[in-house]
Amino acid sequence: MTSMSDLDKISANQEGFNLRARAHLQSSYYDVERFKQGYNMLRKLEQEELGDVSGQSLLELQCHIGVNSLSLARMGARVTGTDISDEAIDIARDLAEELDLDAKFVQANLYDLPKVLDGEFDRVFTGYGTLSFLPDIRGWAEVASRYVKPGGTLTIVEIHPILNLFDSVDGELRVTRSLFESRQVHHEMSASYADRIEDEVAVETHSIYGWRWTVEEVVNALIDVGMTIERLREVPYDARQRLPLMVPDGDHNWRIPGDPIPLSFACVARR
Ligand SMILES: C[S@@+](CC[C@H](N)C(=O)[O-])C[C@H]1O[C@@H](n2cnc3c(N)ncnc32)[C@H](O)[C@@H]1O
Repeated sequence: MTSMSDLDKISANQEGFNLRARAHLQSSYYDVERFKQGYNMLRKLEQEELGDVSGQSLLELQCHIGVNSLSLARMGARVTGTDISDEAIDIARDLAEELDLDAKFVQANLYDLPKVLDGEFDRVFTGYGTLSFLPDIRGWAEVASRYVKPGGTLTIVEIHPILNLFDSVDGELRVTRSLFESRQVHHEMSASYADRIEDEVAVETHSIYGWRWTVEEVVNALIDVGMTIERLREVPYDARQRLPLMVPDGDHNWRIPGDPIPLSFACVARR
């Protein structure tokens, strides 16, 4: 079999996320009905790291069905959201119209975004579950930083890569992989994520390709393109249940009892 290029894998992910986008209208993670009633979909870490966004221009990269972008619009930001999934962008535009929220949505592969979107923003933001779908982290940093106004910031909130090392075996956390090996992953999926594992939503079978980046690689990519790292945080909670032994913390996040490892990280970089 001919090996797939990164572009082929990005296209497969686009198809996969098109299927997932419609299914996510039923996902407890996105809880679209609650969002429509005014609930802010940004998780605690995202809200803390973004702070006050009112009156600011803001670009969300890989915005999926737009509920974070539209929550930021409700917080007073002038928002543009972008994603490769045309289905996700259609849903985001429909939600904006239905809720009468002022936000613009652009469909593009992140690496091609400069061909279709001009301008610079006070804030650029990317939240949970984005960097691991990108084959070139330095290329991502070039695109992301290109949209930050001089003096503006790029905020990343992501799943901590250390979680990739572990599985839960008999209710215990076990190291089953190396952080430095198995950097590319491919899964055939017939379900997509929800808030808790048992609520996973069924999706037509699709392929998802991923690339695992360490925190060091993400931070160094930003330094290499000239960004100044202002803050780095590691916290022992995550936006959803990824392993069966994770428990809800009552604050819309999930933890491993005893908080043994970081589950999310955040980085703020200034141009
Ligand atoms: C797991 S979703 C999560 C995104 C968002 N932070 C959220 O919480 O809804 C990842 C998104 O990345 C998008 N994506 C994957 N590869 C991309 C690429 N090369 N360019 C732009 N978007 C991409 C997918 O279409 C999907 O909407």
